[in-house]
Amino acid sequence: MADDTSIFIGASRKPDDSYQRAENLLLQYGNRHGLVTGATGTGKTVSLQVLAEGFSNAGVPVFCADIKGDLSGIAMMGTAQDFLVKRAEQVKLDPYDFQEFPVIFWDLFGQQGHPIRATISEMGPLLLSRLMNLTDAQEGIMNIAFRIADEEGLLLLDMKDLQALLANIAERAEEISARYGNVTKPSVGAIQRTLLVLEQQGAANFFGEPALRIADIMRTTRDGRGAISVLAADKLMMNPRLYATFLLWLMSELFEELPEVGDPDKPKLVFFFDEAHLLFDEAPKVLIDRVEQVVRLIRSKGVGVYFVTQNPLDIPEKVLAQLGNRVQHALRAYTPREQQAVRTAAETFRPNPDFDCATAITQLATGEALVSTLEAKGIPSMVQRTLIRPPSSRLGPITPAERQKLIGESPVTGQYDQVIDRESAFEMLQKKAKEAQDAEAQQAGTGGSRWTIPGFGNDDPSPQPGGRRAPAPRPSNRQTVAEAAIKSVVRSVGSSVGRAIVRGILGSLSRGR
Ligand SMILES: Nc1ncnc2c1ncn2[C@@H]1O[C@H](COP(=O)(O)OP(=O)(O)OP(=O)(O)O)[C@@H](O)[C@H]1O
Ligand SMILES: [Mg+2]
Repeated sequence: MADDTSIFIGASRKPDDSYQRAENLLLQYGNRHGLVTGATGTGKTVSLQVLAEGFSNAGVPVFCADIKGDLSGIAMMGTAQDFLVKRAEQVKLDPYDFQEFPVIFWDLFGQQGHPIRATISEMGPLLLSRLMNLTDAQEGIMNIAFRIADEEGLLLLDMKDLQALLANIAERAEEISARYGNVTKPSVGAIQRTLLVLEQQGAANFFGEPALRIADIMRTTRDGRGAISVLAADKLMMNPRLYATFLLWLMSELFEELPEVGDPDKPKLVFFFDEAHLLFDEAPKVLIDRVEQVVRLIRSKGVGVYFVTQNPLDIPEKVLAQLGNRVQHALRAYTPREQQAVRTAAETFRPNPDFDCATAITQLATGEALVSTLEAKGIPSMVQRTLIRPPSSRLGPITPAERQKLIGESPVTGQYDQVIDRESAFEMLQKKAKEAQDAEAQQAGTGGSRWTIPGFGNDDPSPQPGGRRAPAPRPSNRQTVAEAAIKSVVRSVGSSVGRAIVRGILGSLSRGR
């Protein structure tokens, strides 16, 4: 049975179907990544639930997406249903205890969990271009836009900031083209329209502040269990590109922010990437290469990435080769493509002389899988036909009332619930435009700035020539605005924009690093 160095997954069976032995996943190799695959209804989500429970109990925080809502039950105590008790007996799980897990619910739309946000500058031009499905030429403009924002100290937090920046760039197209290369009004306009579509799809919620702090998904409880962050992804799945880009962003953030830890006794965080095929569907080769690189390097930060998908062929070979811990549920093999998938899946295992892997894959029962994990020295274990243990938490979804209660009690309550809209590119550009307008008006002699300098004789609130009434500014107002602007620039250079400049693997691609 599992001790504190491993997670109990289930029990393997002999060729005559009798009990063989317990199958465990060594925590020490939990950061060597993993793969859970199988056709619809074969037991993937339950296997994910069992793994997440195991990691949490071992003190490892978990992040996972809940595509159908059926993973949410992990927050509630399980009940002794007959088929679960029977399964517990089959795998010699004794005692079969029930448990509820410490779950933090998240939702990009802020409905089924705490809102989860990122800033535009954190997302970076590469991921945004992918999110918006831009052409190469448009992506080039996006890179220029980010450079201009960096150089001019324009903080890009939300979509409004990006819109304002793009509008500004369209106006200055000629000057910018001379400096950076071809930027035309129509091409910027095309990006602006794509951005609008994205906004209409609800993505605007996702961009802004307060942005997710990585520390909040790396929490442990007082009793030493890892928090399980569950991302509500049912609505999100209607925009698969947003879903994939978000998870990719999160992975790259983890990679950027976490320190090197070498080979820890257990992972610092485990990240489950459900419907992982979406990550790679139609992705340009350069992005796939970068994902492959992040997956390879994130290991040394102690992060284990587990891909969950129906078909192992969904995962590019170079990524597949890095997934050490595998749970392969049943696959169908009617069409040639399905047969190919079965063969590929079978070939990735270290063979077991007791059975033919390809045949076994097509015959596995629900909640049964071919399992191979990394053993001593990181060598893959011989594949075993394994009955997966039943979960300790509830099988299936929680009710909306239960969810709201848990959200109210979560440790991040109040931290993300309200949007903060501090001064950023939108406001700064608006101010600049206003100043330019005023300067023009002054030159034309048709009026003055609405802003006056107290004590210099023109702070009289009498009607101006243009019929406008100049407001009487409070004496300290001007200074406060100036101070605020300086602070904001300092902050921006120190934080988001600064980070955009030095962004690593996924963000800096365009800069050839
Ligand atoms: N380890 C297990 N122990 C007991 N029952 C299980 C186990 N795994 C799966 N089952 C049963 O099979 C059902 C389907 O499993 P699950 O929801 O995990 O499939 P899935 O592969 O995620 O399907 P989909 O592709 O539709 O999401 C479960 O609701 C449960 O009744
Ligand atoms: Mg499922």
